[in-house]
Amino acid sequence: MMNLTEADNFPFEIISSGADETLAAGKKIGEKLQRGSVVALEGGLGAGKTQLAKGIALALGIHEEITSPTYTIISEYEGNLPLYHIDAYRLKGSDDFINIGAEELLYGNGICVIEWSNVVDDVLPRDKRVSISIKILEDGKRLISVKGLKCELS
Ligand SMILES: Nc1ncnc2c1ncn2[C@@H]1O[C@H](COP(=O)(O)OP(=O)(O)OP(=O)(O)O)[C@@H](O)[C@H]1O
Ligand SMILES: [Mg+2]
Repeated sequence: MMNLTEADNFPFEIISSGADETLAAGKKIGEKLQRGSVVALEGGLGAGKTQLAKGIALALGIHEEITSPTYTIISEYEGNLPLYHIDAYRLKGSDDFINIGAEELLYGNGICVIEWSNVVDDVLPRDKRVSISIKILEDGKRLISVKGLKCELS
């Protein structure tokens, strides 16, 4: 594995041919996250954001079932690091995010994974952020684009 500096914060893409591959991609990405990482997940309805979050949870040693936080907004799990799984879908914007007390989680001891991150984009820190977009391709496969991971996947 190469040890890259921040300047080498290159983007890369993964094609996922099935739910298991999206899970595996999440696990690989999760293995490279650091305390304080903020994972901004974008992608339309049913793209696979929660599935990818499940893979990240596995990488953090969380075996509890990860459920979609659409209605709870924030779910917290205890792994090697705390995982804050947030769904911004039902928020109106960053003010909502701040009002429910979520902003401090971005600067806490854990890892934040935020679905529909575009809704709260302006409050997300740039420096420790990993941006992931998932696109459903015509054949149903998923194109997973990753920016901001500080090292290559092995
Ligand atoms: N590469 C893939 N090919 C086919 N199905 C996939 C793939 N990746 C994930 N899925 C499946 O797509 C479905 C929707 O995934 P998921 O719930 O993770 O999407 P989401 O983006 O979180 O949706 P929402 O917008 O509702 O939050 C799940 O059944 C998931 O297993
Ligand atoms: Mg989801």
